[in-house]
Amino acid sequence: MARPTPPPPPPTPPKDPGTRNAYLEALGGDATAFDRSLRPGSFPDFVGQRPVVENLLLAIRATKARGESLDHLLLSGLPGLGKTTLAHLVATELGVGMKETSAPAIQRAADLAGLLTNLEPGDVLFIDEVHRLPAAVEEYLYSAMERFVIDVMIDQGPGARSLRIDLPRFTLVGATTREGLLSAPFRSRFGLTERLEPYPAEDLAEVLRRSARVLEVALDDDAALYLAERSRGTPRVANRFLKRVRDLAQLTSGNRITCAVAAEGLRRLGVDERGLLRLDRMVLEVLVRAEGHPVGLKTVAAAVGEDERTIEDVYEPHLIRHGYLVRSPQGRRATARAYEAVGVVPPRPPAAPGLAFD
Ligand SMILES: Nc1ncnc2c1ncn2[C@@H]1O[C@H](COP(=O)(O)OP(=O)(O)O)[C@@H](O)[C@H]1O
Ligand SMILES: [Mg+2]
Repeated sequence: MARPTPPPPPPTPPKDPGTRNAYLEALGGDATAFDRSLRPGSFPDFVGQRPVVENLLLAIRATKARGESLDHLLLSGLPGLGKTTLAHLVATELGVGMKETSAPAIQRAADLAGLLTNLEPGDVLFIDEVHRLPAAVEEYLYSAMERFVIDVMIDQGPGARSLRIDLPRFTLVGATTREGLLSAPFRSRFGLTERLEPYPAEDLAEVLRRSARVLEVALDDDAALYLAERSRGTPRVANRFLKRVRDLAQLTSGNRITCAVAAEGLRRLGVDERGLLRLDRMVLEVLVRAEGHPVGLKTVAAAVGEDERTIEDVYEPHLIRHGYLVRSPQGRRATARAYEAVGVVPPRPPAAPGLAFD
């Protein structure tokens, strides 16, 4: 009998060394071996995000007590906040296996069928960037999620027919940086939806202290806070900074990260006192030069030489959250803080009242 063949391994995306720098990897890139080495192995090691963790633990315990599979879970939040980590922790805590894939690797229903039919009862199927599934694949998932069955086409041409296959009960864990892009019918099929928020500096300092122990480097408390405050609310960024600063500490200060070493390390990485990256400042400079006129995303992207999605998903959320940039249907504008950040005196009278001088 024809069985769907397992999907081919996902293609590795080409890396353009010109635009794919260390920060971008930290902010939007895929998890690396370094990320994995610092990944908490159990819930007690997962710092912060208390409401999310409590909801998940409650759901997991209740599910285990009933001997069922966990409801499908949607995890949303900016890159590097811990979605993949949580997916692993959920599977570990449930005591089940996990199959991991990412939406760009599932372009056809047959790719998905291959994954689904290889699951063991109770398994977690983790799909990263789940908002990027093609509509046809998404719709194909519905019956699997709801009724744990799929129809597969066997043979081709006039002899083609469809065969219904029962699946084991499994838990789909989807991760997305763009919850808004998920269709309503898809979203409604997740029984659990949790949103990760950027971390306060104290939590990031805790992440850093834990990572420093793993990496066996001494980290002063004030240095931990200094790094934490410039890490964009993001554990992955904090860990990347720590990695680079550790190199400096190893060479210059007997493997101890003091506040001075942390500051020097960040300066060398092009991170300014406010925690802005070179590309953040480039974006702000484009907006400041527009003197209050809204600038479209395409123009910003072209001017700084970065792709639109990265600007929108990775850089802008931070700039918006910290009041450097406002987004409207007409485009992006600089706020008074942005003028300060790039060292330009705002125009008088303000080109955008209430914006440059808010
Ligand atoms: N709450 C947390 N506590 C400790 N480390 C964390 C936490 N969240 C994320 N990390 C670390 O940050 C890095 C990025 O996390 P990851 O789960 O890959 O993020 P995402 O999947 O949301 O992009 C990993 O090294 C991870 O271990
Ligand atoms: Mg991830």
